[in-house]
Amino acid sequence: MRLVIHKDYEKACVWTARYIANRINKFNPGPDKPFVLGLPTGSSPLGIYQELIRLWQERQVSFSQVVTFNMDEYVGLGAEHPQSYHAFMWNNFFSHVDIDKKNVHILNGTAEDLKAECKAYEERIASFGGIELFLGGMGADGHIAFNEPGSSLHSRTRVKVLAWNTRTANARFFGGDPEAVPATALTVGVGTITDAREVLLLVSGHAKARALQAVVENGINHMWTASCLQNHPRAIIVCDEAAADELKAGTVRYFRDSEAF
Ligand code: GLP
Repeated sequence: MRLVIHKDYEKACVWTARYIANRINKFNPGPDKPFVLGLPTGSSPLGIYQELIRLWQERQVSFSQVVTFNMDEYVGLGAEHPQSYHAFMWNNFFSHVDIDKKNVHILNGTAEDLKAECKAYEERIASFGGIELFLGGMGADGHIAFNEPGSSLHSRTRVKVLAWNTRTANARFFGGDPEAVPATALTVGVGTITDAREVLLLVSGHAKARALQAVVENGINHMWTASCLQNHPRAIIVCDEAAADELKAGTVRYFRDSEAF
């Protein structure tokens, strides 16, 4: 696992966006060989999406041959709901680049049969030969997608009850009221994420420092689900200095030396 530490959030986002654009360009996707990209919502990826939009505007990358799968969606919020992850993705990213609508996949939180929706999502990912690069964020309790503490590290796409912590953290999008945040969500599983050929997490801010310390320096643990990356053959955590605050000086030095090598 690589840990790439940047001075601040902006630098971390620019680095990550360029990394993604390079991966797409090197892959040289085409109609029979799309680049399959897993994507998150939340505050963390916003700077990455802005930089990717800029790179598209400068024609340094194109999303015309990119197929996307989003990580999660709230149960009960339709695509037209302003706080749905459908709306988030179209407002903050898809509407501003050359992606083909038919290549965008986001779980349907209003599906009549949620179990069938989750199964079909896994099948759809498999039909594209799996995910090439899964981009993610991380919750302050170390969760990845909506795989709350205690989730199985082998889990697949399913319905998850959200932790009170998560509803409190996301209340800022629902008028400050945790009760207004949907109690359940559809989410890809930890296993779905680690099946990707590469996983890249962006972790920013002091509020995530305790979780980052647990994820990087402690063992693989279902209570900090992002720690699953330790077992992945190709995983990168990109963070800013504030998120690295709880890491040992020796850990920071080792990863900095590794990147400089
Ligand atoms: C939610 C999302 C995660 C995201 C996390 C952190 O729980 N399901 O995918 O990583 O929030 O969000 P933020 O980046 O806003 O801190």
